[in-house]
Amino acid sequence: MIGICSDHAGYDYKQKLIAYLEAKNYKVKDFGSHSAESMDYPDVAHPLADAVEKGEVENGIAMCGTGNGMAITLNKHQGIRAGLAWNEEIGKLVKQHNNANVLVMPARFIPFDQVCRITDAWLEAEFEGGRHQRRIEKIPVR
Ligand code: RB5
Repeated sequence: MIGICSDHAGYDYKQKLIAYLEAKNYKVKDFGSHSAESMDYPDVAHPLADAVEKGEVENGIAMCGTGNGMAITLNKHQGIRAGLAWNEEIGKLVKQHNNANVLVMPARFIPFDQVCRITDAWLEAEFEGGRHQRRIEKIPVR
């Protein structure tokens, strides 16, 4: 199960990405926003982060205009590694090296077909472990 959220800036892409993922047989839980009306990204980012931390969803995808509001908010959660990706290679690396459990994309700066390619790259990539495991273990604030 993949959790997904966006603010108004990412709403259209979120709706299209849910359809894209469901067509590929992924189960998707939508945390909102539920319309294109202006809203505040923390209101959906925190519930998505909580669900990932509790294991209610396996991982998450978040979009806002730049991706930064979502990434900044999500990364306040100790169990979240939210990685901002704007191309396929970064989408792959953010899983391989950072084991990002939330993929964040900047909806206002990339075309939708790129959103799909980045998502596929992140979903299909495998965490490499080893030195990267040591590094991610040093991320949480004690
Ligand atoms: C909304 O205008 C915009 O600020 C938001 O989508 C996001 O880019 C914030 O980081």
